[in-house]
Amino acid sequence: MLILGIESSCDETAAAVLASPLEVRSSVVASQIAQHQPYGGVVPELAAREHVKAFPPVLEAAVREAGIAWSDLDGIAVTQGPGLASSLLSGLSVARGLSQRLNIPLYPVHHLEGHILSLYFSQPAISQPCPALVMLVTGGHTALMRMTAPGVYEVLGRSIDDAAGEALDKGARLLGLPYPGGPEIEKLALTARGSGPRFPRGLPRGEDVKKRGGEYPFSFSGLKTSLRYHLEQNPEADKAEVAAAYQEAVMSSLCARVEEALQAYEDWACVACVGGVAKNQYLRAGLETLCERFDKALVTVPIGYCTDNAAMIAAVPLLRDLTPADEAVKIDPNLVLSGVQLRK
Ligand code: KG4
Ligand code: ZN
Repeated sequence: MLILGIESSCDETAAAVLASPLEVRSSVVASQIAQHQPYGGVVPELAAREHVKAFPPVLEAAVREAGIAWSDLDGIAVTQGPGLASSLLSGLSVARGLSQRLNIPLYPVHHLEGHILSLYFSQPAISQPCPALVMLVTGGHTALMRMTAPGVYEVLGRSIDDAAGEALDKGARLLGLPYPGGPEIEKLALTARGSGPRFPRGLPRGEDVKKRGGEYPFSFSGLKTSLRYHLEQNPEADKAEVAAAYQEAVMSSLCARVEEALQAYEDWACVACVGGVAKNQYLRAGLETLCERFDKALVTVPIGYCTDNAAMIAAVPLLRDLTPADEAVKIDPNLVLSGVQLRK
């Protein structure tokens, strides 16, 4: 079984070929970071135009590097949402056209489910990864989940405001660093001596925090505001020290919730961290320490599959049953992961 994955929810144009059970034959990602950097963030119109330009060579490369012919493909998986409407649309049009021409099924995939199931690229050696405590940390979403099988997820907690990646991107902007901010903050923080301020990491007060964020809520917008005040009041502050302190506050809030969930349930088979922010070595080290303490296996996604890629999209129909779409399938910029409930 050979599946072509197609991903274009934001500013990466990606295609990948996977063979069953879960062998990555090729994974090609064309990043548009350089085009968006002058604007300090992703410009939707620019992204859509770049996807249209990038898809033909990216698809050709994915098939060529996999060493297959187009006619060998058995199905196509494409990101249906969530994401930028015009970006999603370019991926879906390409995928639909190919599935019709090759007469093979088209599987619409939820972008976040792709991130979640990327944990299977980590250690095929873990034969029994469930129930997994999954920390999903991307530029748009932050959630702590309980996965009992591919396709069966329960949200234990989520952010009530900014996502962790968003907090890093916005923080980097305040620090005068380029987009995307997460890797820039990590790089700068490595040069710090640890003499920066201590930023607050508490949750806002109020009853509705758990209603909106679940049993293990996250909140990052207050932290971003403290960073802004700190920089306004200390214009001469050492940026590296401040970046390190800010990164520490974001990552330790993430680790604190994981620790609570490790304490609350005893049956975890592993802890997994997925999404772009999972690239961060400081976060990985924090989770490793926690997992050692609780004697749990830590599943870390290989660096190349943390940020947006198409291999994780192609993985979804290989790991669980998906219904193929009909010709009327549409993108959904606000697509909800089906069947997932927030545990209150
Ligand atoms: O998963 P992803 O590629 O896209 C979304 O689905 O949002 O995640 C992108 C996010 C950005 O916020 C970026 O700043 C963050 O991942 N990121 C990092 C690192 N590399 C990317 N955050 C912290 N440390 C990194 N090394
Ligand atoms: Zn993503």
